[in-house]
Amino acid sequence: MSSYVIEGGKKLEGEIKVSGSKNSSLPIIAATILNGGISKLYNVPKIHDTQMMFEILKQLGCEVKKNGNKVVVDSSKLNKHEISENLMREMRSSVILAGALIGRVHKAVFSYPGGCDIGTRPIDLHLKGFEKLGINIKENYGNISCVCDKIESAKIDLDFPSVGATENIILASCLADGTTIISNAAMEPEIIDLQDFLNKMGAKISGAGTNIIEIKGVKKLKDVSYNIMPDRIEAGTYLCAGTITGGNIKLINVVPEHITPVINKLEEAGCKIDTGKNYIELEAPKRIKPINIKTMPYPGFPTDMQSVITAVATTAKGTSVIVENIFENRYKYVQELIRMGAKITIEGKTAIVKGVRRIHGANVKATDLRGGAAIVVEALAAKGTTRIDEIKYILRGYEDLDKKLKSLGAKIYIKEGE
Ligand code: UD1
Repeated sequence: MSSYVIEGGKKLEGEIKVSGSKNSSLPIIAATILNGGISKLYNVPKIHDTQMMFEILKQLGCEVKKNGNKVVVDSSKLNKHEISENLMREMRSSVILAGALIGRVHKAVFSYPGGCDIGTRPIDLHLKGFEKLGINIKENYGNISCVCDKIESAKIDLDFPSVGATENIILASCLADGTTIISNAAMEPEIIDLQDFLNKMGAKISGAGTNIIEIKGVKKLKDVSYNIMPDRIEAGTYLCAGTITGGNIKLINVVPEHITPVINKLEEAGCKIDTGKNYIELEAPKRIKPINIKTMPYPGFPTDMQSVITAVATTAKGTSVIVENIFENRYKYVQELIRMGAKITIEGKTAIVKGVRRIHGANVKATDLRGGAAIVVEALAAKGTTRIDEIKYILRGYEDLDKKLKSLGAKIYIKEGE
């Protein structure tokens, strides 16, 4: 098991390029199934989750050729519609392949994604959407099998603007007969990226980025090349790393509007932030003011940034209040921050963070992807050395985290486990 070893207390300075978005890449990689041809993808982050998604495509009969961040998928020889249980377990977001398989071959078999590190994460909204599209769903011992003769168009009103359900319904319906309308759709930028990718492939989708999305079914899709958008959560994580170390950093290849609530909160905390079309520059004060945050669906404060901003709040001058409204079990990482001297109490959805002047290094472990990122951020500001075990969670979502931090002056290295 590999670990990060971080010697804290170094002020981060310099410029880094933000990688392509993990949460855009995953549904777009799934969507390459739909054209039965060639998809050239650029700016794909080389992280565990995208590599797993390509493995699943290969198991389904697709050809995948990788060259750095460019990946070419040929889905013409797709010959399976079953996603194996161990791959479903490995990566919950593989559920997004169901919509793409249904769209292409009108059938998909997969297992229940099961419980997860940040909450129960049900998929009832995905399945309700599929049913509305005329898909027959049978559940048997945790296996879900979806089948239909043809995909019908439908009006689907989501009970909650779920990102995954919105994406799955788009994928399943873009080759349907007639027009499908999703209301109370998720409005995240990743949905716009999926829409833009599919439209370049010949789909007729409009409204992504608003809460009503219209998908006019088309008969056929064509070959496509596409550049994945920058990762807004990675960008936010580096801004937080810069802030907690009192640093001065510039991010390039970033869309500042995608993280407006993060920028606003860091400004309120005392950072000076300058943004341009594709850059963000941050100059942090020695010690920030406390921050109050409530996570919400986009355009609210992103739940994926909750842990990282909580880490920043641990050294603020005063008490911060953080409320997690999206996932019920997203504070597991807090016990690790407490080992490092943070003063945090959890009451239900709320974390009360009493800022302290100094935190210290400790032996800790990553609990999940974003919780792990929070611990890295904390360690960068800690006095002494922190060893973070179980970094496999962090490697799921951050490309070259250690190299990028090193280039900003951090003292971090990977210690390979036995
Ligand atoms: C996606 C992101 C994840 C992010 C989340 C919220 C990917 C790969 N992951 O996850 O990083 O934290 O959006 O921004 O893009 N829910 C149901 N029933 C369902 C589906 C969801 O009750 O069928 C609930 C969930 O339990 C959760 C909430 O809806 O409480 C939001 O989930 P959702 O938006 O679906 O998140 P994901 O798509 O899983």
